[in-house]
Amino acid sequence: MTAMTRVAVVTGGVSGIGRATCVRLAADGFTLAVADLDGDGAKAAAGPDGLGRGVDVGDAAAVEEFFAEVVATFGRIDVLVNNAGIAGSSEATILHTTPIEEWDRVFAVNVRGPYLCARAALPVMIAAGGGHVITIASVAGQVAFPGRAAYTASKGAALQMARSIAIDYAAQGIRSNAVCPGIAETNMTKWRLDQPELRAAVERLVPVGRVAQPDEIADAVSVLASDRLGYMTGSALVVDGGYTAQ
Ligand SMILES: NC(=O)c1ccc[n+]([C@@H]2O[C@H](COP(=O)([O-])OP(=O)(O)OC[C@H]3O[C@@H](n4cnc5c(N)ncnc54)[C@H](O)[C@@H]3O)[C@@H](O)[C@H]2O)c1
Repeated sequence: MTAMTRVAVVTGGVSGIGRATCVRLAADGFTLAVADLDGDGAKAAAGPDGLGRGVDVGDAAAVEEFFAEVVATFGRIDVLVNNAGIAGSSEATILHTTPIEEWDRVFAVNVRGPYLCARAALPVMIAAGGGHVITIASVAGQVAFPGRAAYTASKGAALQMARSIAIDYAAQGIRSNAVCPGIAETNMTKWRLDQPELRAAVERLVPVGRVAQPDEIADAVSVLASDRLGYMTGSALVVDGGYTAQ
């Protein structure tokens, strides 16, 4: 069966930027397929016409099974939003004290995850003659975040992966772009932003004087997914309140 509406796969769609992206893309008319560690949450985020499943994006077999179900259910994947990501535990700080297991865990979600999902989605897009891979990287992929070596390295890798996909699949009608948020208020950043002094310290670093709300990042995904900006591929759309302009 082929869905009449365009289909977007969103990873990590249960919380924060992913959840806001699901709300925006559903309002834009997309049918949603959501993969998240939280399967019940994924079902809720996908809505009654969508497909939500509990999937660890770093698990190759689980990712393959999920995309096979998406294709069997909807017959198409127009947009893949590689959003699931983690910052790492409080031990994942500067490089030599980051535990090896924590380094590997951050890379499993932030790099292996987008790789496995794109690997599963690209053949479907090639067969359809087009598609769009949108990767939620971070400004940490462009400038280093102090004391966040694994996260910074992983986001640099995710950004370069987005560029590789852009140049390697352009002839097949597939575009690939990254969104690079600055600091957004989500579960990932809540522990810091809930403490007034730490929040003020973060806000002082941002020229607009405040952190982003998740729907402000989802706006960028929505514009990319809309097929406007159709000549844009291999780009990093920075949405950071001026953080990296300084
Ligand atoms: N919040 C920020 O300030 C910020 C800034 C720049 C980039 N980002 C990026 O945006 C993306 C979303 O972050 P967020 O802030 O909304 O985080 P969040 O913690 O609010 O949400 C992350 C979601 O991903 C899911 N997830 C985590 N590991 C997963 C896995 N292995 N498999 C499947 N799902 C998994 C979680 O269950 C959760 O629903 C991440 O890639 C993050 O690195 C966030």
